[in-house]
Amino acid sequence: MRDLIPNHRPALVLAPMQDVTDLPFMRLMARYGGPDIFVTEYFRVTADSGLDANTLRSITENDTGRPVIAQMIGHDIAALCRTARELEKHSVSGIDLNLGCPAPIVCRKDAGGGLLRQPERVDEILRALRDAIQGRFTVKCRVGFADKAEFPRLLEVFQKHDIQALTIHGRTVRDAYKTPVHPECVALAVQAMACPVIANGNVVDVASGLAYLRHTNAAGLMLGRGAIRHPWLFSQLRAHWEGGAVTVPTGRDMLSYIQALYDATAAFHPRFDVRPHVQKMKRYMVFITTGIAEGQLEHRIRRVTSEEEFFSACRDHLDHDEPLAARPPEDSHVFCGFAELR
Ligand SMILES: Cc1cc2nc3c(=O)[nH]c(=O)nc-3n(C[C@H](O)[C@H](O)[C@H](O)COP(=O)(O)O)c2cc1C
Repeated sequence: MRDLIPNHRPALVLAPMQDVTDLPFMRLMARYGGPDIFVTEYFRVTADSGLDANTLRSITENDTGRPVIAQMIGHDIAALCRTARELEKHSVSGIDLNLGCPAPIVCRKDAGGGLLRQPERVDEILRALRDAIQGRFTVKCRVGFADKAEFPRLLEVFQKHDIQALTIHGRTVRDAYKTPVHPECVALAVQAMACPVIANGNVVDVASGLAYLRHTNAAGLMLGRGAIRHPWLFSQLRAHWEGGAVTVPTGRDMLSYIQALYDATAAFHPRFDVRPHVQKMKRYMVFITTGIAEGQLEHRIRRVTSEEEFFSACRDHLDHDEPLAARPPEDSHVFCGFAELR
């Protein structure tokens, strides 16, 4: 993946997020500057799975001009290899294996983060996938299942295979999203791996991104919830490295982002229905409202049920030209422990 990373600055990658990073979301991020590289939501792989049509659209109809890596989750080796070959028939820039999802239903089936309990099995899967995949093969992991002390053993396995990038969400599966990240594990991987290592977890503003890079020497940053909250984050980081004006978004900028998100995701659904769409917007808003008007917008949004109530709440707190805070509040229940990244 070295060839996809700009040679003068760290790479910026949009984190794969189920039910978030679909085609309209990727297009919207690109309008705000966007990442250098996209990764799809995961394709769920089982013995009889096919390619999810909606997720496939983020590859086949992707007109952002940026590379898209297709992510898979599963544990059935034959099915993973078959799916990787099917995906490679489309214009993917690589295939990624998810070794980090903490959802109990996924881990119980020994997929995603659950696989980290079985390094030998990971070894087998990586060997088979490396043989099956013609192009770039990347891995996204956490630093262990229950304890970061598991990470050196996992790194030994990763080192054995010719992978083109390793992205590390710097928490264990058990940590879920509740703890600060462990940059020292990412730094260890940077030392150990021949391929680029991308640091992920809790980057919420330029300062936390720079701190993560300073502690790890990673080749890039992957941004997830921080990008939902502030789509300006990619261009702010780029401006920091390349010179140029750093955007300081105002309340009204946020209002137009929320409207654009509403419109883009609504237009994507052939059977658009307002009520479920407002519910979908409320899931994005969990990240977006963090810290706005001292929690008042979050409080209002939780209670809205109609489009009118939704936008009225947004307007009441965002129809102004004051700059928005770059960081969430330090006691944020969404971005737990981000302030430790300094
Ligand atoms: C709603 C949501 C969905 C996610 N779906 C995926 C996924 O499909 N594949 C994956 O590897 N990680 C997934 N993740 C994890 C993110 O890619 C990322 O590793 C994590 O959110 C930490 O980064 P952040 O602090 O920048 O958000 C998801 C996270 C969230 C919040």
